[in-house]
Amino acid sequence: ISCVFQPPPAKYGGQHTVTLIPGDGIGPELLNHVREVFRFSCVPVDFEVVNVNSSRADEDDINNAITAIRRNGVALKGNIETNHTMPPSFKSRNNLITSLDLYANMMHCQSLPGVQTRHKNIDIIIIRENTEGEYSSLEHESVSGVVESLKIITRLNSLRIADYAFRLAREKGRRRVTAVHKANIMKLGDGLFLQCCREVASGYPDITFDSMIVDNTTMQLVCKPQQFDVMVMPNLYGNVVSNVCAGLVGGPGLVPGANYGRDYAMFETATRNTGKSIANKNIANPTAMLLASCLLLDHLKLHEYATTIRNAILTTMNETRLHTPDIGGQGTTSEVVQSIMNIIQKTGPRTVAY
Ligand code: NAI
Repeated sequence: ISCVFQPPPAKYGGQHTVTLIPGDGIGPELLNHVREVFRFSCVPVDFEVVNVNSSRADEDDINNAITAIRRNGVALKGNIETNHTMPPSFKSRNNLITSLDLYANMMHCQSLPGVQTRHKNIDIIIIRENTEGEYSSLEHESVSGVVESLKIITRLNSLRIADYAFRLAREKGRRRVTAVHKANIMKLGDGLFLQCCREVASGYPDITFDSMIVDNTTMQLVCKPQQFDVMVMPNLYGNVVSNVCAGLVGGPGLVPGANYGRDYAMFETATRNTGKSIANKNIANPTAMLLASCLLLDHLKLHEYATTIRNAILTTMNETRLHTPDIGGQGTTSEVVQSIMNIIQKTGPRTVAY
């Protein structure tokens, strides 16, 4: 996944600087655990912390975060609450994604053998167009009682997300890409998206291309999710489908997400929930955020560290079976993190660069 986009070079000494946005709810505690695991594993990453406060009326701190990510190239982020009392012009989260042009949202949903779920053997990569579609923030009340929300689909952005999906599919040895749409109703907008996917597909004869209407897709997902391989779709369908898929493999505490653009990358949990009601109780599942930090390490080409930490997380989930309450266990967040560190200690590599 990392080779599709180039990471920023490391500074002298091989040390990287990553912007850390703690966010709201369980974000700060989960990111503290990431820092603990990185320190323990001697990962050559320094964090620059930037706080973004969801309830501030001005956009200064979101602009500071954007500047910091521009400087460092890479960010790891807790989830920021969307403050619904803000005026429609307030576009905090969207600003982060669109200002940095992080156009490709990527989530890999995979069944974990140690986690009890209705369906087994799910292995789906979801690619969501991250910058336009229904998230254009172009809404107005043309006359009282009539609101128009504009959904923007452009040829350029549709081609580049389709191209990302196919390049990733090829890099990962995947066989099939499915475009998800509603072109039967939105003939022009979704029609263009679908047409662009078809055009890109013709350059990848080794990968099968097909398409599916979004309503049928969600039904197929809950009935027979194993049929899907790589999926590509516009923004809002991507949001809905990725939440369905996270639920299928065990919930929001398990799945990491990545946002890539040509110049920058930002990593977070796939479904971006703040988990406010479980904050500071030591019960949040740390898996999704820790796996997001492994995607970050892969992006920085620190593959050995990524693999060691990822394997320790998966061993804790699947073999040790130390689970937090969201997936039916009684373990605390810090017990799960401790188990992960114990496994890292046994397996290495603790490449100490003193
Ligand atoms: P939520 O934060 O209440 O989470 C949904 C459920 O998942 C809750 O039961 C929560 O306890 C559980 N959960 C989430 N992460 C977990 C973890 N790591 N371990 C264990 N359980 C976990 O979700 P909701 O109500 O959808 O959103 C809450 C806030 O998050 C909203 O204010 C919204 O603005 C923000 N949010 C922002 C998004 C964005 O794209 N910026 C997307 C989704 C939510």
